[in-house]
Amino acid sequence: MQSQKEVKKTRTLVSGIQPTGKLTLGNYIGALRQFVKLQDELEDTELFIFIADLHAITTPQDRVELRKNIRSVAALYLACGLDPAKVNLFIQSEVIEHTMLSYIMESTAYVGEMERMTQYKDKKGKQMEGIRTSLLTYPALMAADILLYDAHIVPIGDDQKQHLELTRNLATRFNSLYGETFVVPEGFYPETGARIKSLTEPDKKMSKSDENQKSYILLLDDLAIIRNKIKSAVTDSDTKIKYDLKKKAGISNLLTIYASLTDLSIKEIEKKYENSNYATFKSDLAEIVVDSIRPIQKRYFEIINDIKLDQILTEGAERARFVAQRKMQKVYKKIGLGRIK
Ligand code: TYM
Repeated sequence: MQSQKEVKKTRTLVSGIQPTGKLTLGNYIGALRQFVKLQDELEDTELFIFIADLHAITTPQDRVELRKNIRSVAALYLACGLDPAKVNLFIQSEVIEHTMLSYIMESTAYVGEMERMTQYKDKKGKQMEGIRTSLLTYPALMAADILLYDAHIVPIGDDQKQHLELTRNLATRFNSLYGETFVVPEGFYPETGARIKSLTEPDKKMSKSDENQKSYILLLDDLAIIRNKIKSAVTDSDTKIKYDLKKKAGISNLLTIYASLTDLSIKEIEKKYENSNYATFKSDLAEIVVDSIRPIQKRYFEIINDIKLDQILTEGAERARFVAQRKMQKVYKKIGLGRIK
């Protein structure tokens, strides 16, 4: 049998996670776990997975915390099962071409397109003053991250769908303005779990920036705290364990988490708990979540202070830079920037 390294890579996968705060169960189900699955399934695909630190500074960050979080996300990628033999893992800001192409994308996109992004509108709504320009132009950087590597496939959660659509539009527009340059990427969303909801307000997304710590589960939360958060998750006053997004958003979210972390479908779980109450269901789910997170935490603490982590990030950045530099030369040539070489 051919080893994965020997199979010719004809396709590319790109994705990233921001190092703002700690990663949640939503990040794990919506993104990280997908990366691990895809690295094993897609033999013909080269993977570029990064820590989106430039994206983090669209809002204020503490310098010491940011550095800590960058390393923490890198370690979590590996702890969740990313294999450096199969994936180029790197830090976005260490590959300068991301910023270069981002400016080119700003020069391809229209202001109106940026202003229509719901994430921008939401974040802007929460912050009254000092809104950074990069919060508005953020999707240009995300488009650059993806197009730089000619990604065919971009695994993301639902909340990034609009940014991916914009990326597709920018690639198509650039190609028609300057000639065929970029692959138009496809989004890849998990079958269940593309939008894990808050445990306290199940009509909202589970988010690491939520003020209420009970609303999210962090991958690095104490296991006893994780159990408590699941057990105190908001549900309705009915007793039936049934999936109904409109009337029973809380229990539907818990069913989604259950299905995402096991091989069972939502229908099978409903059947299993037909005659049970919420307490039993939540208590079983708490153990399922804890069993998924425990080995990740164990590996995380083995990796976080290991020098090997730095070597992996250095090698990942070298490979990313090689591909990105080649692409930028092509982009400059197509647009007519600089001099003929
Ligand atoms: P970020 O850092 O907010 O989230 C990282 C990934 O986790 C997914 N996600 C969720 N999935 C399901 N349920 C949730 N509650 C949940 N919360 C987060 C996100 O959809 C995302 O896939 N802009 C991106 C990072 C980025 C990127 C890229 C992604 C920068 N450049 C290029 C792909 C390709 C972001 O802020 O994700």
